[in-house]
Amino acid sequence: MSTLIMKLIDVCKSFGPIDVLHNINLEIRAGEVLCLLGDNGAGKSTLIKTLSGVYVPNSGTIEMDGLPVVFRTPRDASDRGIATVHQFGGTFPLMSIGRSFFVGVEPTKGWGPFKIFDRKKANEIAVKAVRDFGITRIDDGDRLVGGLSGGERQSLAIARAVHFGARVLILDEPTAALGVKQATHVLRIVNEAKRRGLAVVFITHQVTHAMAVGDHFAVLIRGAIAADFKRGEKTREEITDLMAGGETMADLEAAIEADSAAAGNAQAAE
Ligand SMILES: Nc1ncnc2c1ncn2[C@@H]1O[C@H](COP(=O)(O)OP(=O)(O)OP(=O)(O)O)[C@@H](O)[C@H]1O
Ligand SMILES: [Mg+2]
Repeated sequence: MSTLIMKLIDVCKSFGPIDVLHNINLEIRAGEVLCLLGDNGAGKSTLIKTLSGVYVPNSGTIEMDGLPVVFRTPRDASDRGIATVHQFGGTFPLMSIGRSFFVGVEPTKGWGPFKIFDRKKANEIAVKAVRDFGITRIDDGDRLVGGLSGGERQSLAIARAVHFGARVLILDEPTAALGVKQATHVLRIVNEAKRRGLAVVFITHQVTHAMAVGDHFAVLIRGAIAADFKRGEKTREEITDLMAGGETMADLEAAIEADSAAAGNAQAAE
């Protein structure tokens, strides 16, 4: 079995009186994609924010390499190799590719007060890192991030995380806003990150995308892990039903049909 990097033990998070996460137990392993599934409001984003230092859990333990850790800030988490890519890539639309790649870690030439951002070098490194991931359409580091497609932006953010040595890559709905072709491309890049030995936490609503890359799956329902299983242990239908909170897809379809029939009757009556 692959190496355990992070372990969550009975992690709870509440906001005042509102309990959002209940006793979350999860294992995050190197070279594996963990898909975190769940409906809107299930607690997925809250969970990844506790993994990435945005929130500190109210109780429970997060272990890294077998030892308890407390991340008080996102910086604490990124110092330990946890990279979080938010929807739309989390990069800066008005910056160039090369510039955005090195935000916070700009390579410089000269010294002391004369240090300046080495644009040419930054562009070369950024373009190479991105192309190494098979994104060959990006060849000019001066292009603005805002001019890239959604998929290219996601890919850039992932390539950046990998380049700077991330061990855990957390992706919050990276394919949600993408068309089929672009989503496929991002999924390929997720696979490449996994092949390079990163642990990937992949959050999605889309069962198809989860099934394409997932090794391990956890379904969150109202802040608790309702199911935890490995690739091949459940069918697409079972996963979809789980995400719908136990209601079967067939029940939902029947309910929708009844609703639209009622709407049709209401229209006919007008
Ligand atoms: N800062 C907060 N204060 C109070 N309640 C919060 C806060 N953040 C999240 N919540 C509540 O926690 C629940 C889970 O929210 P969260 O954003 O984690 O869900 P999610 O699974 O990411 O949903 P989505 O799929 O819509 O992104 C929601 O009911 C939300 O209203
Ligand atoms: Mg969310």
